[in-house]
Amino acid sequence: MIKSRLSTLVLAIALLSWSSQVLAADLSRMNQFIDDLMGKMTLQEKIGQLNLPVTGDIITGSSVSGDVVSKIKAGQVGGLFNMKGVQSIRALQEVAVKQSRLGIPLIFGMDVIHGYETVFPIPFAMSMSWDMDAIRNAARISSVEATADGICWTFSPMVDICREPRWGRMSEGNGEDPFLGSAICRAMIEGYQGADLADKTSMMACVKHFALYGAPEAGRDYNTVDMSHVRMFNEYFPPYKAGVDAGAGSFMTSFNVIDYIPATGNRWLMTEVLRDRWGFDGFVVTDYTAISEMINHGMGDLQTVSALALNAGTDMDMVADGFLGTLEKSLGEGKVTMQDIDKACRRILEAKYKLGLFDDPYRYLDAKRAKKDIYTDEHRAAARKLATETFVLLQNKEGLLPLQRTGKIALVGPLANTRANMPGTWSVAAASERYSTLLEAMRRAVGDKAQVMYAKGCNVCYDAELEKNSTMFGREMRDERPVDVMRDEAVRIAKECDVIVAAMGEPSEMSGESSSRSDLSILDAQKDLLLALKATGKPIVLLNFSGRATVMDWEVENISTILNVWFGGSEAADAICDVVFGDVSPSGKLTVTMPRNVGQIPIYYNHLNTGRPNPKWFSKYTSNYLDVPNDPLFPFGYGLSYTTFNYGPMTLSSNSMTPSGNITARVTVTNAGNREGTEVVQLYIRDMVGSIARPVQELKGFERISLKPGESRVVNFTINADLLKFYNKDLEYVCEPGEFDVMIGPNSRDVQHKTFTLR
Ligand code: BGC
Repeated sequence: MIKSRLSTLVLAIALLSWSSQVLAADLSRMNQFIDDLMGKMTLQEKIGQLNLPVTGDIITGSSVSGDVVSKIKAGQVGGLFNMKGVQSIRALQEVAVKQSRLGIPLIFGMDVIHGYETVFPIPFAMSMSWDMDAIRNAARISSVEATADGICWTFSPMVDICREPRWGRMSEGNGEDPFLGSAICRAMIEGYQGADLADKTSMMACVKHFALYGAPEAGRDYNTVDMSHVRMFNEYFPPYKAGVDAGAGSFMTSFNVIDYIPATGNRWLMTEVLRDRWGFDGFVVTDYTAISEMINHGMGDLQTVSALALNAGTDMDMVADGFLGTLEKSLGEGKVTMQDIDKACRRILEAKYKLGLFDDPYRYLDAKRAKKDIYTDEHRAAARKLATETFVLLQNKEGLLPLQRTGKIALVGPLANTRANMPGTWSVAAASERYSTLLEAMRRAVGDKAQVMYAKGCNVCYDAELEKNSTMFGREMRDERPVDVMRDEAVRIAKECDVIVAAMGEPSEMSGESSSRSDLSILDAQKDLLLALKATGKPIVLLNFSGRATVMDWEVENISTILNVWFGGSEAADAICDVVFGDVSPSGKLTVTMPRNVGQIPIYYNHLNTGRPNPKWFSKYTSNYLDVPNDPLFPFGYGLSYTTFNYGPMTLSSNSMTPSGNITARVTVTNAGNREGTEVVQLYIRDMVGSIARPVQELKGFERISLKPGESRVVNFTINADLLKFYNKDLEYVCEPGEFDVMIGPNSRDVQHKTFTLR
């Protein structure tokens, strides 16, 4: 036995040293290749590699890059992004390879944020599944589809921690928690980059937006960010660091300032933290025109800000034409060095090398793969299953859900019969014409067993201008009929039916980039429709579509049944029916704290205590509001199922541990209902006394378990020193001796406690 273990160990060591030799040989081959290539490159060609113009149909900023083809011929382009289709990509790759002097291939990127033509739920929704295997698989499928269509670089994962639901881009991230956000970041990078980046089905990931983009003042997009370094390191940086540790090939800068210096020109951030401290060895691309935007930030003219960006450690310029237009001059004037230009150029060439583009520039341009690997039945099934896991059942007071497939169902609301809004924001490659509306899916789901009647009932909101700005990119849905005509029609069919399903909330472009809101309530026209529907006395199921946390205090009081469905991707409509009709029990848990009103924002579960804490509503001279309780409408981690789970008493394997030891926290969870269900068991820890103030609780573990009726499962969490560490005031990563409170429960609020001491 011992002998066989020993030989396995010897074999493992031999394999390890063999693979590190192979790696070393690969590395020296790559270095040699790039040395030779760079030896032939002119200064202009090197600067050309740092240039990333946009072309194609999708323009996300206000400028479009001009005359791309002649620039490619002149060796002035390193890559392109957001073009769709093998043919058009091949045409431009041929220009680079055949018509530029050195034939250096281009890298083709795209915002493949949550799927390609098979669209998965928006990332915010995906995080609600807490299902790392499914998220990794979603990224893998996205990569298989995108690489089949010519893309080898995705601008994802977006891992900006966000406690600010007014900010529309909450929809693109993974919610408010750094522990969960880090796990998701790792899973997505593993999915995109696969075991081997050189595999034709793998694409390079780009962790964004570095850094802190999710904390804009007042939730207004692109706005100022200001926070302490302790908060950055403990609460906002972990997912970015997880991206480095998972081997992400690239990083994208953010638009905001950090310590009053825009991220793109911030040397402390891009070099001292990202490279020197964390060891990142890929390349850094700016966000869209982030270099030229530094002019507006008051950092100088285009030449000055371009030099600032390069000197900070930024390698590639997206769309601003700052590097291309000014670096040569800056070099002449001694404002940048040749070493820095070389360094940036080398990093980009390395990425192309690792992707295999120098072996075969057309390796991602196989029209046969494009035909067979995109939007397959298998991919769609995975998207549908994951979507069902993302819906969060907020309340089901009268047990209305799941619905029976009988009688008459009134499907009403502005989101009930729209195709283009189903995939959700940032679905660049979506082929919406192939997706179902909820109405179509619901009629399919009930077949001839029940009748589904439909009325839109109202527009998104009364203000046509607001609706127009929230339904861009072909997702317009305004109905010109008078308000009362639409409402009366909905009320009439509601009266005829046994139950009302109200598909309401935000259209998909009401969240996402440049879609901040100051009011997060259900929009006026929809609220009025809900009131009219309620007056019919018929039971109502509210399906809330949204890309952020919404304010639903009125709805929670007045509507018995609420299922948050976010934006579920290309298969959303069928997935919603799977849950509504009970083929699948909901299992999503909130990864954001749901506020009672906008005034509570920022509200998040892992906050610090105050000197005058007050968990209840109003008592003088404690930390509270006069007009609203401190607690949220729904806590982080919350979500119901069609069954119920009982938690047995929590035990700890010991009440003390040393930094080299560990403790097991254990709980038995039982499915106490009469149908199968999935529960996300959550572990939180509080460091009771520290050298700096520590949060009242922090997520430190979770496990998704599926249980049959009556079935029990023992869930174990191992607590070791790593889980107890934090960055102290000197930004050292330490754990400190003392008492820790361990909490386990179905959400961050309803937890059991046990304590132990770290010696
Ligand atoms: C967004 C990025 C995106 C880029 C390229 C920017 O406006 O902030 O997230 O990757 O455009 O489309």
